[in-house]
Amino acid sequence: MLDKDAITVQVAKKVQRAPDVYSFELVPTSGASLPEYTPGAHIDVEIEAGIVRPYSLYGDPGDRTRYCIAVKRSAESRGGSSALHSHTAVGSILRVGAPRNLFQLNSEAKPRMFLAAGIGITPIFCMTNWLFQRGEDFCLHYSARSSREAAFYEEICSSGLRGHVTFHFSKDGSSQRIDLRALEQRMRSFAEIYVCGPAGYMKDVCETAHRAGYEPANVHCELFIGEDPRVEENSSFEVELAKTGKILVVPPEHSVAEILNQNGVSVGLSCGQGLCGSCLTGVLAGQIDHRDRYLTEEERSRHDCFTPCCSRALSSRLVIDL
Ligand code: FES
Repeated sequence: MLDKDAITVQVAKKVQRAPDVYSFELVPTSGASLPEYTPGAHIDVEIEAGIVRPYSLYGDPGDRTRYCIAVKRSAESRGGSSALHSHTAVGSILRVGAPRNLFQLNSEAKPRMFLAAGIGITPIFCMTNWLFQRGEDFCLHYSARSSREAAFYEEICSSGLRGHVTFHFSKDGSSQRIDLRALEQRMRSFAEIYVCGPAGYMKDVCETAHRAGYEPANVHCELFIGEDPRVEENSSFEVELAKTGKILVVPPEHSVAEILNQNGVSVGLSCGQGLCGSCLTGVLAGQIDHRDRYLTEEERSRHDCFTPCCSRALSSRLVIDL
């Protein structure tokens, strides 16, 4: 669910960027300037009532007339990407939240190495364009199955960005699948690493960066797919509903939201993956095991709210504001 400050936008342009990727340019219906953002930011898009998905912004952060997103149709789409691909056209009206940035560029640490796989190019395309325009030193390794399946391939090749990019196409004879072992040595000459792509790819890059000697704080990751449920690591705990004093047990195989719903307590579920913040619930006591991709580090450090669709407890009981 988007908050009351959501912005109504209209689709001004829809362009196919790869066989399963469309980009959308969204302009405000009010004609007012859009809230500004920084490279790496995303917006929450309400595709239909109750369906909210986060998408990275790839356009020029200085352009306050439009937000540009690129959407890959997910094979497991539960109404998000498939609805955008199939039912959203030029002229469609959508609601979006103000930009949020969980993938910030550190302005101090230079030079930077970027690694993107598949649709993970979206925030990195924005970040590297921004750095290129400022004459900063960086390199980008972009992995895809082929040039045809690489969103923004033409734009990269026809711009100055091309001189900074190495493509890794696993299906093309012209180039090679990324060799992270070989890259490990090169990594050492960069101050920071930024990576975005599927979970397995990100895990491999992070392990390579760790072997190359990077501290976790210097490896920045962006994953817009819910983390694995990690059921095998879960333990049971209790939630106490502050308003009634009722105590519910959350077993390892169920989320807090599921147990609440089974007991007639509704929370505003949308993505169910810790991405959209719809289910955000106040916490009055207990230690939270945050597993979302929505709250910032600063918001987490307040220990006063969590996303019951995926987050759990580190203490034996959480007292929640319901
Ligand atoms: S439902 Fe989206 S964060 Fe919980």
